[in-house]
Amino acid sequence: MRALKLILTIGLIAFGPSVAIIDAQESEALKRDPLSGMVIDENWELVRANCVVCHSTKGFTQIRLDRKNWEKVIRLMQEKNGLWPLGEMEPKILDYLEKNYGLSDEHHNPKIRRPLLD
Ligand code: HEC
Repeated sequence: MRALKLILTIGLIAFGPSVAIIDAQESEALKRDPLSGMVIDENWELVRANCVVCHSTKGFTQIRLDRKNWEKVIRLMQEKNGLWPLGEMEPKILDYLEKNYGLSDEHHNPKIRRPLLD
């Protein structure tokens, strides 16, 4: 374990973020941002920048939706709540939401709320 940590540390210094991403994917335990509680994964900062402006993450990190319904949430935010057009960021945001707050995740999380939509 110590040797592994050392290798990871050296790797992080030598290869930077690319190693960090591999490490995150292989890690069993999900890393969470202590401030927002969001799962730290690819594009999470993009989601934080666009989705935590008007409300906390509490509403959306506690629901599980498939990609189609996450897209509906985004549309709803845009039509009713004033979310701006996301442009090229939208598929990345959907990737993140689908992967970390999607339905395939279900068995990992006992605190499931029924999806709000559909
Ligand atoms: C411009 C402001 C704004 C932005 C940006 C925004 N929302 Fe919202 N959102 C709201 C408002 C207003 C509500 C309804 C009131 C509330 O729950 O605070 C809401 C509610 C929600 C709800 C329902 C929560 C619940 O428990 O009923 C979800 C899910 C949600 N937002 C997801 C998102 C996601 C995902 C993004 C990023 C793509 C986002 N929001 C960005 C304004 C915004």
